[in-house]
Order: sequence, then C-alpha cells, then structure tokens
Amino acid sequence: MTGRFITLEGVDGAGKSSHRQWVADFLRERGHEVIESREPGGTVIGEKLRDLLLAEPMEIETETLLMFAARREHLARVIQPALRAGHWVVSDRFTDASYAYQGAGRGLGAHRIARLESWLGGILQPDLTLVFDVPVEVARERLTQAGEGPDRFERQDAAFFARVRGAYLERAKTFPGRIKVVDSIRSVYEVRKELENILVNI
Ligand code: TYD
Repeated sequence: MTGRFITLEGVDGAGKSSHRQWVADFLRERGHEVIESREPGGTVIGEKLRDLLLAEPMEIETETLLMFAARREHLARVIQPALRAGHWVVSDRFTDASYAYQGAGRGLGAHRIARLESWLGGILQPDLTLVFDVPVEVARERLTQAGEGPDRFERQDAAFFARVRGAYLERAKTFPGRIKVVDSIRSVYEVRKELENILVNI
C-alpha cells in the first residue's frame, strides 16, 4: 500500500498557509496518517538551505540548485519513505514552485528546470497539487498585513509575482488532472468547501 502525495502552491500571500493545517487535519479525519512538510525544508539539511535561500543574495543558478538539493534530501528522507509506509504527505510547495519562481519569476526558463528534474531521474509527481490563486495585488496586500518582515522572495516586485502566478496557471492548464486551481479570493468557508470536494475525490 502506498500513500498519496499532495502539494500546496501559490504566490506568497495567496492564502496557502491558512489552509495547510486544515487540509492535513481533514485527511486525518478520513483515517489517513498524514505527514506535513515544506519546501525548501523538511529535513535538517533542507531547513539549513531554507535559511540561506530566504536570506542571502545569490546567483539564480545557485538558488535553483539549492532548491533542488533541498528537494533531493526531502524526497529521499521524508517523502518516499512516508509514501512507502502508506502515509499521506502534505507538502507546502514542491517542484512546481521551482518552475514558477526560478523558471518564470527569475526568468531562468522552464526548460532548465525540466533538465534538473530529469537529471535527478525524473522527480516524483504529486498525486494532487492545489494552487491557491488570487490576483497579485490582493496577494501583496495580504503580505503587508501579515506582519512578519518580508523574506528575499516576498521583497520582489509585482511583475515578478505576476510571472510566478502566470506560470502556476499555465502549469495547471498543462496538467489539469493533477493541478487544481483554487480561487482564494473567496471566504475561508467557501474555499474549504471546494477543498473538501477535491479531497474526497482523490
Ligand atoms: P513559503 O511557503 O512561501 O514560506 P512562508 O509561507 O513561510 O513564507 O516558501 C518560501 C519561499 O520559497 C517562497 O517565497 C517561494 C520560494 N520557493 C522558490 O522560489 N522555489 C522553490 O522551488 C520553492 C520550493 C520555494
């Protein structure tokens, strides 16, 4: 028996964090053992890389390689063992974020992200990816209200986030079976009703 792998995505401020815990708890109520994790992060090395990635200026290629280095550890040490044990994994971000942020946001290009994916032997694809989607101005507004000082990504301009959002929506069109776009401009209640519908069907 193998578990299911669910990832949560969206531009910073789209509301992903408000629903993460709820998604995990909903699946637990349905009887699944759920491991919650995040990227970059999820392992000792991944969390150290996260600290660097969110704080230190670096070359785009360095940033991309470190994202994938953290992902490699996360896959081998957390995600794959959990799935093999029959557990479900809910990860706050995964490879789609590299396509959106490094590929589109930073302008590296999707083909270079795809080459890294294939260099790693073709990375596991999630069973379900929820993309929380709001217009960029709304996401930026929510970020300013969040209080915490912005990290290196959150400090990017509106054009950067427009490219990130565009890439998520484009990928959702390319992989309609796996990626579901959740319109998060609605109330928490309405969003959760939609999440429930999606989650009971996977
Ligand atoms: P995020 O989930 O937004 O953390 P928090 O909610 O605690 O601020 O993720 C951190 C940042 O990492 C986010 O701005 C997107 C970025 N990121 C990439 O640029 N590429 C990637 O491959 C991943 C996984 C994350």
